[in-house]
Amino acid sequence: MAQLHRDALAGQQRRFDVVAAVDPVPERAAEFAAAFRGARPVREVSEVVDDIDAALVIAPHHVHHDVGLRLLQSGRHVLMEKPLALDEQECRDLIRASGAGGGILMVAYPMRYHPLVLSLRDQVRSGVVGEVFQMSIWTEQYTRYADAHWANRRSTVGGGQLFSHGCHYIDLLVWLLGEPVRGSHLGTRRGTEWMEGEGTSNVQIEFASGALGYHFGTWGARATRLGYRIHVHGTSGLLDADIIEGRLRLSAGGRTRTITQVNGHDKYLAHELEHFADVIDGRAVLRTDAETALRGLQIIWRLYEAADAGVVADLRGLGFGDTAGSVTAGIIG
Ligand SMILES: NC(=O)c1ccc[n+]([C@@H]2O[C@H](COP(=O)([O-])OP(=O)(O)OC[C@H]3O[C@@H](n4cnc5c(N)ncnc54)[C@H](O)[C@@H]3O)[C@@H](O)[C@H]2O)c1
Repeated sequence: MAQLHRDALAGQQRRFDVVAAVDPVPERAAEFAAAFRGARPVREVSEVVDDIDAALVIAPHHVHHDVGLRLLQSGRHVLMEKPLALDEQECRDLIRASGAGGGILMVAYPMRYHPLVLSLRDQVRSGVVGEVFQMSIWTEQYTRYADAHWANRRSTVGGGQLFSHGCHYIDLLVWLLGEPVRGSHLGTRRGTEWMEGEGTSNVQIEFASGALGYHFGTWGARATRLGYRIHVHGTSGLLDADIIEGRLRLSAGGRTRTITQVNGHDKYLAHELEHFADVIDGRAVLRTDAETALRGLQIIWRLYEAADAGVVADLRGLGFGDTAGSVTAGIIG
């Protein structure tokens, strides 16, 4: 992920002066730093913390807490790659440190800055498909890290595919559909035996509005037809976002038309970075804040616990209550 952020940062040098790249593996730090004139490669955050205003943390999940705390306790702004941290206590430590030190803590959920997803949200909000009753998200990819990689182990990744990757889509479901009520998750290692946790997961959530949300995510797809796809069904039609094709289509009133076309190869990380800069400059209100990110992770932890217990998860009381009611009014941020 560092390479993608490096390329996005390289296009944002008007907003960010990159002074250092940190990685315990020196050649990785050197490779990143080489893209920015004057940037120096270092091994530890403590070597640069006094020289910076802000940091982008693109590290393994089990180091988010320590690295994030070091930065936030020094009052630095942090854009933290998802998921925020491994467990609730770690997340709360980071949120508290942000509050105490005055640094902004933003979570990297780039889908919320992706123009296709923003267009989808605007269309849902406009009521063009009527009352939403089903939103489905498919993410089919083949992701296999080297055997000893941290992402394969529960203790370092924080769970499995759902926690590591599905957190983006749980975040999107609640962003568009509001207050979750109950849900279930079934995961499997079959087909992704290199993962200690699940490599494939199916999630279904019922929302207070009555709408249902679904996410199918896999790191084991040997081939895909759906790729990265979001469908929103409403009482007047269907919105179909094809993230890979970069196309949002509306089917309503007997015809289908393209509403938005963007570059499907772009992850639009530059938009996320620009938002981070805007928030630091006081020009924007933080969209992907740590409290909201924590609530999304709490959904996942409840889904995991319920799956282990063989019951349906109770997802009420997580603080999404103010977004209850109609789907079109149930959008936060
Ligand atoms: N938004 C997305 O689409 C997306 C996609 C992939 C990964 N990610 C996220 O990016 C983060 C990194 O994932 P990755 O796949 O790039 O991992 P990776 O293993 O490829 O890279 C992690 C890097 O962090 C370095 N590192 C380890 N400890 C460190 C420390 N204490 N300080 C500084 N650097 C340290 C490692 O040496 C390595 O170079 C994770 O949070 C992951 O979930 C996001």
